[in-house]
Amino acid sequence: MYSSSQTIQLQQQTSTLLQSINENQFDTGAIQQLRNIIRFHEYRYYVQADPLISDSEFDRLYAQLKKTETQFPNLVTADSPTQRVGHGLTKNFPAVQHLVPMLSLENGYNEADLINWDRKVRELSGEQNIQYSIEPKFDGASISLIYENNLLLRGATRGNGVTGDEITTNIRQIKSIPLSANFSDYGIQQIEIRGEVLINKSTFQKFNDERAAAGLPPLANPRNAAAGSLRMVDPNEVAKRGLEAFLYHVSDVTTLPGQPLTPLLQSHHNTLKLLWQLGFRSPEKEATTVNGIEDVIDYCKTFEEKRDDLDYEIDGMVIKVDSLTLQEKLGMTTHHPRWAIAFKFKARQATSKLTAVEFQVGRTGSITPVAKIDPVYIGGVTVTSVSLFNEDVIREKDLKIGDTVLVERAGDVIPYIVKSMAEIRQGNEAEIIFPDNCPVCATPLHKPTGESAWRCMNPACDAQVLERLIHFVSKGGMDIKSLGESNIRRFYEMGLLSTIPGIYQLNYFEIAQLGGFGPKSIENLKVAIEASKSQTLNRLIFALGIRYVGETTAKTLANAVNNLLDLQHFNIEKLMQLEDIGPKVAGSVYEFFHTPENLHMLHQLKDAGLQFENEKKTTGNDVLHGQTFLFTGTLNKLKRSEAEQMVEDAGGKIVSGVSSKLNFLIVGDDAGSKLEKAKKMNSVKIISEDDFLQMLNSR
Ligand code: IVH
Repeated sequence: MYSSSQTIQLQQQTSTLLQSINENQFDTGAIQQLRNIIRFHEYRYYVQADPLISDSEFDRLYAQLKKTETQFPNLVTADSPTQRVGHGLTKNFPAVQHLVPMLSLENGYNEADLINWDRKVRELSGEQNIQYSIEPKFDGASISLIYENNLLLRGATRGNGVTGDEITTNIRQIKSIPLSANFSDYGIQQIEIRGEVLINKSTFQKFNDERAAAGLPPLANPRNAAAGSLRMVDPNEVAKRGLEAFLYHVSDVTTLPGQPLTPLLQSHHNTLKLLWQLGFRSPEKEATTVNGIEDVIDYCKTFEEKRDDLDYEIDGMVIKVDSLTLQEKLGMTTHHPRWAIAFKFKARQATSKLTAVEFQVGRTGSITPVAKIDPVYIGGVTVTSVSLFNEDVIREKDLKIGDTVLVERAGDVIPYIVKSMAEIRQGNEAEIIFPDNCPVCATPLHKPTGESAWRCMNPACDAQVLERLIHFVSKGGMDIKSLGESNIRRFYEMGLLSTIPGIYQLNYFEIAQLGGFGPKSIENLKVAIEASKSQTLNRLIFALGIRYVGETTAKTLANAVNNLLDLQHFNIEKLMQLEDIGPKVAGSVYEFFHTPENLHMLHQLKDAGLQFENEKKTTGNDVLHGQTFLFTGTLNKLKRSEAEQMVEDAGGKIVSGVSSKLNFLIVGDDAGSKLEKAKKMNSVKIISEDDFLQMLNSR
């Protein structure tokens, strides 16, 4: 970013400026120079971790800039280092659409997985000798940044991959993220960049020590702390968290009119270089390129040994096909790009003491034993509870209370007990006694033949009712955020809520009498509950908590009907004709829709005004079915997000780049590199916004 002669020059200017500041002789005409110098030192400190001046010298430079800008407010610029500081609190984090969906990565856990992946890459690309770029897999919170005309325009969380939360003000607090960068030098007008926000292990440790001192519970791991920090309402608090950011991916670029795409964006390693040159902390130093999978494996192994020496958490390595042309050729599945794989590091293990076992009742009545262990830190997380899944696991692993146990946590997978150390028992360990009766409602437990879980068969059991309510409002279900788990528990305990339809008949007058519910939060609650009435049918089906019906099955069921109540008329055979529905699921769905209490509940929900219709199916408009689309340039009639939604609503698919997979490129004003590329490919049809609208209306 700064050449050595520039560094020397900036360092000399720093001394001169510091002297003038010390002598109270600062010349306002030098304000732009002062800003450049502050940016330079921020870069040395936050990106390079190699400062050239002391903290107090930096503070003096900064204080002078602040003072001058206060005196002459018209001299303030949007990208001035003083403008990171937030004013006031952030009211909400509006949902925003990513220019390109943020996909996740395929995982590999061993050499065989990598070898297999490499074989697929070679087969699909038709190339034998592939250059790979390898870099750490940062264990933080993913973000997307958009820069336009050199200025940071927007920062967002990953969210569900398609839409995230807009968190620009908080992103501006991260000192290693430049507020402006000279993209125009590379012919770039707009760019979307992906990366990961992290908290250093040492910062995290200090932060938790402070929390402990203040009597607050510690946060579980640096990843959660980073993700939580990004969503704090007070930007000044965010600034204090000392967040770091690595930027590693360019997902979308628009070039300036008439400018070619910079050749640096033709390979991943040069993309990292470009970002680095522009002042971003890209993993340019940590990454390497190699030929062939053998060298990939070697590099991953060597890096894994260094894992604990790093001050930030990584949970593996990411291997990417280096050539962006090949990347486009390989394309992506619905979940992840085919040109990359995450190699997850080995599971982390630790020993601890099993101190007790609790028995939890799930929404379908199944009893899950949960081991309580002395807190242990495993691979970035403090573990205190470990699910034992069912009684058989306790027997097979011969677990006793008081045992020393080996606990493992692999990546994001929930921790589990590998084994107990029977040989070091003291003799005072106690048997784990599985209860005969439900720990909540005392109904005798039942274990259906062929199943491993004991179940409480009383559907009116308090624990089940409560868990069903929590599931109903949960994220994958009706997603009623203001009515989260803690409110549900509270309302349930106070007798204000006892059934799912009760959510739509809450007594707001009584809620207002509870502590912590002001008019504003009551209003939010009302609005959120009202909004949930129009949730899509597949979510509603999932939210009902029918046994064995996950999100995918819920979609299958929703797609099979025009109206939810039609499912009453499906017999087991008809259900089993649906995709991926076997006898177990079919039996459970049939039972649900033939239980009078459930039908009563469904009618109550219908009367409350919930959306029972399958909107997509009834409109029958899928004129774009099976076709892929990409928008480029500025559209005149539609917003890009709107247009993309229209494609999806009509059964089409949005893809992220021009490749052989693309059917239609819709071209707006000032289209750049994508158009050029598409022109060279016979398979892509290039159409205007009007053509597109006509296509949609052709049904
Ligand atoms: S590349 C289109 N590179 O891992 C591919 N991802 O499990 C973009 N991650 O959502 C992702 N370090 O948040 C990439 N060096 C790295 C990464 C990385 C961490 C995260 C990222 C992604 C998740 C996938």
